[in-house]
Amino acid sequence: MPAGRVEKLVYSIRELAPLAREFEKRGEKVLYFNIGDPVRWGFQPPVHVRRALCEAVEEGYSWYSPSQGDEELREAIAEKEWAWNGVKISPDDVFLAFGVTEAILLVFASLLDRGDEVLLPNPTYPLYTTYAHFLEAKPIYYRCAEDNEWQPSLEDIESKITGRTKAIVVINPNNPTGTTYSAETLKRIAELVAEHNIALISDEIYDGLVLEGEHVSAAKVAPEDATVIGLNGFSKNFLMTGWRLGYIYVKGDEKVKEAIYKTARTRLGVSTPIQRAAIAALRGPLTHLEEFKRGLIKRRALMSKLLAESEFFSLVKPKAAFYVFPRLNFRGPWRSEKEMVKELLVEEKVYVVHGSG
Ligand SMILES: Cc1ncc(COP(=O)(O)O)c(C=O)c1O
Repeated sequence: MPAGRVEKLVYSIRELAPLAREFEKRGEKVLYFNIGDPVRWGFQPPVHVRRALCEAVEEGYSWYSPSQGDEELREAIAEKEWAWNGVKISPDDVFLAFGVTEAILLVFASLLDRGDEVLLPNPTYPLYTTYAHFLEAKPIYYRCAEDNEWQPSLEDIESKITGRTKAIVVINPNNPTGTTYSAETLKRIAELVAEHNIALISDEIYDGLVLEGEHVSAAKVAPEDATVIGLNGFSKNFLMTGWRLGYIYVKGDEKVKEAIYKTARTRLGVSTPIQRAAIAALRGPLTHLEEFKRGLIKRRALMSKLLAESEFFSLVKPKAAFYVFPRLNFRGPWRSEKEMVKELLVEEKVYVVHGSG
Protein backbone atom coordinates (compact mmCIF):
# COMPACT_ATOMS: atom_id res chain seq x y z
CA MET A 1 0.00 0.00 0.00
CA PRO A 2 1.41 3.42 -0.90
CA ALA A 3 1.80 6.01 1.88
CA GLY A 4 -1.25 8.16 2.58
CA ARG A 5 0.68 11.40 2.16
CA VAL A 6 1.18 10.68 -1.54
CA GLU A 7 -2.54 11.28 -2.11
CA LYS A 8 -2.05 14.95 -1.30
CA LEU A 9 0.93 15.30 -3.60
CA VAL A 10 -0.06 17.30 -6.61
CA TYR A 11 2.23 19.33 -8.82
CA SER A 12 -0.18 21.23 -11.05
CA ILE A 13 2.40 22.21 -13.65
CA ARG A 14 2.91 18.59 -14.68
CA GLU A 15 -0.46 17.10 -13.74
CA LEU A 16 -1.64 16.64 -17.33
CA ALA A 17 1.79 15.75 -18.70
CA PRO A 18 0.99 12.00 -19.06
CA LEU A 19 -2.05 12.91 -21.19
CA ALA A 20 0.01 15.30 -23.31
CA ARG A 21 2.59 12.54 -23.87
CA GLU A 22 -0.21 10.21 -25.04
CA PHE A 23 -1.13 12.73 -27.74
CA GLU A 24 2.51 13.03 -28.77
CA LYS A 25 2.84 9.24 -29.01
CA ARG A 26 -0.09 9.33 -31.43
CA GLY A 27 1.89 11.80 -33.54
CA GLU A 28 0.00 14.95 -32.51
CA LYS A 29 1.89 18.15 -31.77
CA VAL A 30 1.36 19.61 -28.29
CA LEU A 31 2.23 23.21 -27.42
CA TYR A 32 3.73 23.14 -23.93
CA PHE A 33 2.92 26.49 -22.31
CA ASN A 34 2.75 24.83 -18.91
CA ILE A 35 6.41 24.87 -17.98
CA GLY A 36 9.12 27.52 -17.77
CA ASP A 37 11.73 25.80 -19.89
CA PRO A 38 13.20 28.18 -22.47
CA VAL A 39 15.60 25.46 -23.57
CA ARG A 40 12.58 23.77 -25.21
CA TRP A 41 11.94 26.98 -27.14
CA GLY A 42 15.24 27.55 -28.90
CA PHE A 43 17.54 28.85 -26.16
CA GLN A 44 20.70 27.08 -24.90
CA PRO A 45 23.23 27.63 -22.08
CA PRO A 46 26.15 29.90 -23.14
CA VAL A 47 28.84 28.08 -25.16
CA HIS A 48 31.62 28.66 -22.60
CA VAL A 49 29.46 27.06 -19.91
CA ARG A 50 28.77 23.98 -22.04
CA ARG A 51 32.51 23.72 -22.70
CA ALA A 52 33.31 24.05 -19.01
CA LEU A 53 31.02 21.10 -18.27
CA CYS A 54 32.80 18.90 -20.84
CA GLU A 55 36.20 19.99 -19.50
CA ALA A 56 35.18 19.26 -15.90
CA VAL A 57 34.33 15.69 -16.87
CA GLU A 58 37.56 15.34 -18.89
CA GLU A 59 39.57 16.70 -15.96
CA GLY A 60 38.15 14.10 -13.60
CA TYR A 61 35.63 16.10 -11.53
CA SER A 62 33.54 13.01 -10.99
CA TRP A 63 33.90 12.46 -7.25
CA TYR A 64 31.25 13.15 -4.61
CA SER A 65 30.92 16.84 -3.89
CA PRO A 66 30.96 18.18 -0.31
CA SER A 67 27.37 18.41 1.01
CA GLN A 68 27.48 22.18 1.18
CA GLY A 69 28.81 22.40 -2.38
CA ASP A 70 32.05 23.20 -4.20
CA GLU A 71 33.93 25.88 -2.26
CA GLU A 72 34.98 27.87 -5.32
CA LEU A 73 31.41 27.90 -6.54
CA ARG A 74 30.16 29.12 -3.17
CA GLU A 75 32.72 31.95 -3.42
CA ALA A 76 31.47 32.78 -6.93
CA ILE A 77 27.86 32.79 -5.66
CA ALA A 78 28.75 35.17 -2.81
CA GLU A 79 30.45 37.45 -5.38
CA LYS A 80 27.43 37.24 -7.69
CA GLU A 81 24.94 38.10 -4.94
CA TRP A 82 27.00 41.15 -4.05
CA ALA A 83 27.52 42.28 -7.66
CA TRP A 84 23.97 41.65 -8.90
CA ASN A 85 21.86 42.21 -5.82
CA GLY A 86 23.93 44.10 -3.23
CA VAL A 87 23.52 41.16 -0.83
CA LYS A 88 26.49 40.59 1.46
CA ILE A 89 26.99 36.91 2.26
CA SER A 90 30.00 34.70 2.80
CA PRO A 91 30.66 31.38 1.01
CA ASP A 92 29.86 29.67 4.33
CA ASP A 93 26.28 30.95 4.12
CA VAL A 94 25.70 29.13 0.81
CA PHE A 95 24.40 25.60 0.13
CA LEU A 96 24.15 24.03 -3.32
CA ALA A 97 21.07 21.98 -4.23
CA PHE A 98 19.63 19.99 -7.13
CA GLY A 99 17.78 23.04 -8.42
CA VAL A 100 15.64 25.41 -6.41
CA THR A 101 13.23 22.47 -6.36
CA GLU A 102 15.45 20.55 -3.96
CA ALA A 103 16.37 23.79 -2.18
CA ILE A 104 12.68 24.27 -1.27
CA LEU A 105 12.49 20.74 0.09
CA LEU A 106 15.73 21.12 2.09
CA VAL A 107 14.63 24.43 3.59
CA PHE A 108 11.08 23.30 4.38
CA ALA A 109 12.34 20.01 5.84
CA SER A 110 14.76 21.97 8.03
CA LEU A 111 12.12 24.45 9.26
CA LEU A 112 8.71 22.82 9.34
CA ASP A 113 7.36 20.29 11.81
CA ARG A 114 4.03 18.56 11.28
CA GLY A 115 1.22 21.11 11.73
CA ASP A 116 3.49 24.16 11.34
CA GLU A 117 2.29 26.91 9.04
CA VAL A 118 4.05 28.55 6.13
CA LEU A 119 2.67 31.64 4.41
CA LEU A 120 2.62 31.40 0.63
CA PRO A 121 1.58 33.92 -2.02
CA ASN A 122 -1.69 33.38 -3.83
CA PRO A 123 -1.32 32.75 -6.75
CA THR A 124 1.75 30.67 -6.03
CA TYR A 125 4.40 28.49 -7.58
CA PRO A 126 2.82 25.10 -6.80
CA LEU A 127 5.86 23.28 -5.50
CA TYR A 128 5.68 25.25 -2.25
CA THR A 129 2.23 23.81 -1.60
CA THR A 130 3.34 20.33 -2.63
CA TYR A 131 6.29 20.20 -0.26
CA ALA A 132 4.34 21.75 2.63
CA HIS A 133 1.84 18.88 2.25
CA PHE A 134 4.64 16.37 1.87
CA LEU A 135 5.95 17.42 5.29
CA GLU A 136 2.44 17.51 6.76
CA ALA A 137 2.76 21.23 7.37
CA LYS A 138 0.03 23.74 6.48
CA PRO A 139 0.26 26.12 3.54
CA ILE A 140 -1.59 29.37 4.38
CA TYR A 141 -2.10 31.73 1.45
CA TYR A 142 -1.78 35.50 1.53
CA ARG A 143 -3.43 37.66 -1.06
CA CYS A 144 -1.67 39.24 -4.01
CA ALA A 145 -3.99 41.75 -5.65
CA GLU A 146 -4.50 41.72 -9.41
CA ASP A 147 -5.83 45.30 -9.29
CA ASN A 148 -2.60 46.35 -7.59
CA GLU A 149 -0.29 44.74 -10.18
CA TRP A 150 -0.30 41.52 -8.15
CA GLN A 151 1.49 43.09 -5.19
CA PRO A 152 1.25 41.16 -1.91
CA SER A 153 -1.20 42.53 0.68
CA LEU A 154 0.84 43.40 3.75
CA GLU A 155 -2.28 43.56 5.93
CA ASP A 156 -3.27 40.07 4.84
CA ILE A 157 0.21 38.72 5.57
CA GLU A 158 0.26 40.29 9.01
CA SER A 159 -3.22 39.02 9.87
CA LYS A 160 -2.27 35.45 8.99
CA ILE A 161 0.81 35.13 11.19
CA THR A 162 0.04 32.82 14.13
CA GLY A 163 2.01 31.01 16.82
CA ARG A 164 2.50 28.13 14.35
CA THR A 165 3.90 30.25 11.51
CA LYS A 166 7.50 29.34 10.76
CA ALA A 167 8.17 31.21 7.54
CA ILE A 168 6.84 33.58 4.90
CA VAL A 169 7.66 32.81 1.26
CA VAL A 170 8.01 35.54 -1.34
CA ILE A 171 8.63 34.83 -5.00
CA ASN A 172 10.27 37.88 -6.50
CA PRO A 173 10.33 38.26 -9.50
CA ASN A 174 7.14 36.29 -9.40
CA ASN A 175 6.01 33.13 -11.09
CA PRO A 176 3.24 33.10 -12.29
CA THR A 177 2.35 36.83 -12.31
CA GLY A 178 5.66 38.23 -13.61
CA THR A 179 5.54 41.08 -11.11
CA THR A 180 8.45 42.47 -9.09
CA TYR A 181 8.24 43.63 -5.47
CA SER A 182 9.34 47.04 -4.23
CA ALA A 183 12.03 47.68 -1.61
CA GLU A 184 9.34 49.06 0.77
CA THR A 185 7.17 45.95 0.51
CA LEU A 186 10.10 43.60 1.04
CA LYS A 187 11.41 45.66 3.92
CA ARG A 188 8.03 45.54 5.67
CA ILE A 189 7.75 41.75 5.23
CA ALA A 190 11.30 41.36 6.54
CA GLU A 191 10.43 43.53 9.55
CA LEU A 192 7.46 41.26 10.23
CA VAL A 193 9.62 38.11 10.19
CA ALA A 194 12.09 39.80 12.55
CA GLU A 195 9.28 40.84 14.92
CA HIS A 196 7.88 37.30 15.02
CA ASN A 197 11.25 35.53 15.01
CA ILE A 198 10.41 33.50 11.90
CA ALA A 199 12.15 33.23 8.51
CA LEU A 200 11.64 34.99 5.21
CA ILE A 201 12.20 32.64 2.27
CA SER A 202 12.86 34.67 -0.85
CA ASP A 203 12.81 32.81 -4.17
CA GLU A 204 14.73 35.01 -6.62
CA ILE A 205 15.34 32.52 -9.41
CA TYR A 206 14.35 35.17 -12.01
CA ASP A 207 16.64 37.92 -10.64
CA GLY A 208 18.52 38.24 -13.95
CA LEU A 209 15.36 38.32 -16.08
CA VAL A 210 13.77 41.64 -15.19
CA LEU A 211 12.43 43.21 -18.39
CA GLU A 212 11.21 46.49 -16.85
CA GLY A 213 12.35 48.24 -13.68
CA GLU A 214 14.79 46.65 -11.27
CA HIS A 215 15.09 43.63 -9.03
CA VAL A 216 15.36 44.21 -5.27
CA SER A 217 16.64 41.38 -3.10
CA ALA A 218 14.88 40.82 0.21
CA ALA A 219 18.22 40.25 1.94
CA LYS A 220 19.45 43.66 0.80
CA VAL A 221 16.65 45.61 2.47
CA ALA A 222 15.95 43.35 5.48
CA PRO A 223 16.87 44.60 8.96
CA GLU A 224 19.94 43.01 10.54
CA ASP A 225 17.87 40.90 12.95
CA ALA A 226 15.73 39.27 10.22
CA THR A 227 16.49 35.74 9.04
CA VAL A 228 16.40 35.71 5.27
CA ILE A 229 16.81 32.52 3.27
CA GLY A 230 17.53 33.29 -0.37
CA LEU A 231 16.80 30.72 -3.07
CA ASN A 232 18.27 30.98 -6.52
CA GLY A 233 19.70 28.85 -9.29
CA PHE A 234 21.06 28.33 -12.74
CA SER A 235 17.99 26.99 -14.56
CA LYS A 236 16.63 30.32 -15.74
CA ASN A 237 19.45 32.90 -15.85
CA PHE A 238 21.88 30.46 -17.43
CA LEU A 239 19.39 28.25 -19.27
CA MET A 240 20.61 25.16 -17.44
CA THR A 241 17.12 23.78 -16.70
CA GLY A 242 17.99 20.14 -17.22
CA TRP A 243 21.34 20.37 -15.43
CA ARG A 244 19.60 20.77 -12.05
CA LEU A 245 21.55 23.25 -9.98
CA GLY A 246 20.32 25.78 -7.46
CA TYR A 247 21.43 27.32 -4.21
CA ILE A 248 20.30 28.49 -0.80
CA TYR A 249 21.87 31.23 1.27
CA VAL A 250 21.06 31.97 4.86
CA LYS A 251 21.48 35.39 6.43
CA GLY A 252 20.63 35.47 10.11
CA ASP A 253 19.82 32.64 12.51
CA GLU A 254 22.85 30.35 12.75
CA LYS A 255 20.62 27.53 14.02
CA VAL A 256 18.64 27.60 10.78
CA LYS A 257 21.89 27.42 8.83
CA GLU A 258 23.07 24.47 10.88
CA ALA A 259 19.72 22.69 10.38
CA ILE A 260 19.93 23.13 6.60
CA TYR A 261 23.51 21.88 6.64
CA LYS A 262 22.45 18.81 8.62
CA THR A 263 19.60 18.09 6.20
CA ALA A 264 21.88 18.64 3.20
CA ARG A 265 24.36 16.06 4.50
CA THR A 266 21.70 13.34 4.33
CA ARG A 267 21.69 13.48 0.53
CA LEU A 268 25.50 13.63 0.17
CA GLY A 269 26.07 16.41 -2.35
CA VAL A 270 25.05 17.67 -5.79
CA SER A 271 26.60 16.94 -9.19
CA THR A 272 30.30 17.83 -9.17
CA PRO A 273 30.94 18.59 -12.88
CA ILE A 274 27.83 20.76 -13.13
CA GLN A 275 29.06 22.85 -10.22
CA ARG A 276 32.34 23.43 -12.09
CA ALA A 277 30.36 24.60 -15.12
CA ALA A 278 28.39 26.93 -12.84
CA ILE A 279 31.64 28.67 -11.81
CA ALA A 280 32.28 29.39 -15.49
CA ALA A 281 28.70 30.67 -15.80
CA LEU A 282 29.05 33.14 -12.93
CA ARG A 283 32.59 34.29 -13.69
CA GLY A 284 32.32 34.36 -17.50
CA PRO A 285 30.65 36.90 -19.80
CA LEU A 286 26.94 37.55 -19.23
CA THR A 287 26.19 38.71 -22.76
CA HIS A 288 23.63 35.92 -23.30
CA LEU A 289 21.34 37.58 -20.75
CA GLU A 290 20.75 40.66 -22.91
CA GLU A 291 19.99 38.52 -25.95
CA PHE A 292 17.71 36.27 -23.89
CA LYS A 293 15.81 39.26 -22.49
CA ARG A 294 15.40 40.75 -25.98
CA GLY A 295 13.84 37.44 -27.04
CA LEU A 296 11.53 37.47 -24.00
CA ILE A 297 10.43 41.06 -24.64
CA LYS A 298 9.46 40.10 -28.21
CA ARG A 299 7.51 37.08 -27.04
CA ARG A 300 5.80 39.07 -24.30
CA ALA A 301 4.73 41.67 -26.88
CA LEU A 302 3.29 38.99 -29.17
CA MET A 303 1.44 37.22 -26.36
CA SER A 304 0.07 40.52 -24.97
CA LYS A 305 -1.12 41.54 -28.45
CA LEU A 306 -2.89 38.25 -29.07
CA LEU A 307 -4.57 38.36 -25.66
CA ALA A 308 -5.58 42.01 -26.12
CA GLU A 309 -7.19 41.16 -29.48
CA SER A 310 -9.51 38.74 -27.74
CA GLU A 311 -12.50 40.16 -25.88
CA PHE A 312 -12.24 37.31 -23.38
CA PHE A 313 -8.90 38.09 -21.77
CA SER A 314 -7.35 40.80 -19.63
CA LEU A 315 -3.72 40.84 -18.61
CA VAL A 316 -1.57 42.69 -16.10
CA LYS A 317 1.59 43.04 -18.16
CA PRO A 318 4.43 41.00 -16.63
CA LYS A 319 7.61 42.92 -15.80
CA ALA A 320 9.92 39.94 -15.43
CA ALA A 321 10.45 36.22 -16.07
CA PHE A 322 8.67 34.45 -18.94
CA TYR A 323 5.07 33.92 -17.92
CA VAL A 324 1.74 35.54 -18.67
CA PHE A 325 -1.08 35.18 -16.15
CA PRO A 326 -4.19 36.41 -17.98
CA ARG A 327 -7.73 36.54 -16.61
CA LEU A 328 -10.34 34.71 -18.63
CA ASN A 329 -13.41 36.97 -18.57
CA PHE A 330 -15.80 34.31 -19.72
CA ARG A 331 -17.89 31.80 -17.84
CA GLY A 332 -17.86 28.77 -20.06
CA PRO A 333 -19.56 25.43 -19.57
CA TRP A 334 -16.74 24.18 -17.32
CA ARG A 335 -17.21 23.32 -13.64
CA SER A 336 -13.67 24.37 -12.80
CA GLU A 337 -10.58 25.99 -14.28
CA LYS A 338 -8.97 22.59 -14.24
CA GLU A 339 -11.68 21.20 -16.48
CA MET A 340 -11.24 24.09 -18.91
CA VAL A 341 -7.48 23.60 -19.04
CA LYS A 342 -7.96 19.89 -19.73
CA GLU A 343 -10.38 20.61 -22.54
CA LEU A 344 -7.91 23.05 -24.09
CA LEU A 345 -5.31 20.28 -24.10
CA VAL A 346 -7.67 17.61 -25.42
CA GLU A 347 -9.29 19.73 -28.12
CA GLU A 348 -6.52 22.12 -29.17
CA LYS A 349 -3.37 20.37 -27.90
CA VAL A 350 -2.39 23.54 -26.04
CA TYR A 351 -1.11 22.84 -22.52
CA VAL A 352 -1.48 25.67 -19.96
CA VAL A 353 -1.78 25.64 -16.15
CA HIS A 354 -4.95 26.68 -14.27
CA GLY A 355 -4.39 29.75 -12.08
CA SER A 356 -5.51 28.11 -8.86
CA GLY A 357 -2.88 25.42 -9.46
C1 LIG B 1 9.56 30.43 -8.77
C2 LIG B 1 10.28 29.18 -9.09
N1 LIG B 1 11.00 28.56 -8.14
C3 LIG B 1 11.66 27.41 -8.39
C4 LIG B 1 11.61 26.82 -9.63
C5 LIG B 1 12.36 25.52 -9.84
O1 LIG B 1 13.59 25.77 -10.40
P1 LIG B 1 14.77 24.71 -10.54
O2 LIG B 1 14.87 24.38 -11.99
O3 LIG B 1 15.99 25.44 -10.04
O4 LIG B 1 14.45 23.53 -9.72
C6 LIG B 1 10.88 27.41 -10.66
C7 LIG B 1 10.78 26.78 -11.99
O5 LIG B 1 9.99 27.12 -12.82
C8 LIG B 1 10.20 28.62 -10.38
O6 LIG B 1 9.48 29.23 -11.32
